[in-house]
Amino acid sequence: MKPRSETTLSNNKPSKEYVNLHKKSATQREVELTIQNDILNNKLLLASKMENMGLLSAGISHDFNNILHLIIGFSEIAIHKTSRDDPAYNYLLKILKNAELGKHLTEKILSYNRQHNKLESESVLLHHSVSEAIELVKIGVSKKITIVQNLQNTGKILADQAGIFQIVMNLCLNAIHAMKVRGGLLSIDLNLKNHDGKIWHLLEIKDTGHGMKESTMKNIFDPLFTTKPETEGTGLGLPTVYNIISQYQGIITVTSDFGSGSCFSVLLPIDNY
Ligand SMILES: Nc1ncnc2c1ncn2[C@@H]1O[C@H](COP(=O)(O)OP(=O)(O)O)[C@@H](O)[C@H]1O
Ligand SMILES: [Mg+2]
Repeated sequence: MKPRSETTLSNNKPSKEYVNLHKKSATQREVELTIQNDILNNKLLLASKMENMGLLSAGISHDFNNILHLIIGFSEIAIHKTSRDDPAYNYLLKILKNAELGKHLTEKILSYNRQHNKLESESVLLHHSVSEAIELVKIGVSKKITIVQNLQNTGKILADQAGIFQIVMNLCLNAIHAMKVRGGLLSIDLNLKNHDGKIWHLLEIKDTGHGMKESTMKNIFDPLFTTKPETEGTGLGLPTVYNIISQYQGIITVTSDFGSGSCFSVLLPIDNY
């Protein structure tokens, strides 16, 4: 198997900047794709695609923000008209809370676009942000899918909560989609990991879904690449995840076994200050 730099990004010089795509086992057809954090940034093609993606995501966020604004308004009216003893009352509060979280997220995406791809960073406890994002993911998930989370307190990260939300939500929603037909297990783990002599946060999002063929794996980080029907996929999830992880100076690694599942591993730097 050729390194990815020779296939899709032919002008890449072989250097520490590499994307390593190799077969782990010929029989299992397991493919490992490792992306170093500082690669691709100066690739013109990708940069222009990302710019288009930024415009597109700004448009979507803007429309979505308007819809959330309506949901917030109507749920406030419904809360006002519902007695606290009514079983619907707590559900309405949850709708309001989550719509407000969604609005916060879309506003962050919009401000991210406005600031020319710079997310506002603050020191946040990673396991808190990941846990909150998982709560959003759980809403409306089919009973055929079991979600198991094991989040250690791995300390802080210099990041943006909306960015962490986007990483977790995109990776989990893809995993859930991959298990839509047969159901399965979504595991989310957060641990510390020693990599290259440094301790990192390691976030792993693993599913037992349909997995990916090698030919799919090659393209998953390309903006607008999707294997889903038009109504279900935009091809913007993983490029966004990749972009955010790059900004955090992190590394994303994907392993997939066609027919039995995938695992997205994200290494993120620890904020020690
Ligand atoms: N967990 C997964 N299992 C199987 N395929 C996946 C998984 N995550 C991503 N993919 C593949 O990567 C493609 C791109 O994902 P993404 O960028 O999030 O866009 P979208 O979800 O809109 O298709 C998906 O269409 C799918 O083919
Ligand atoms: Mg997606």
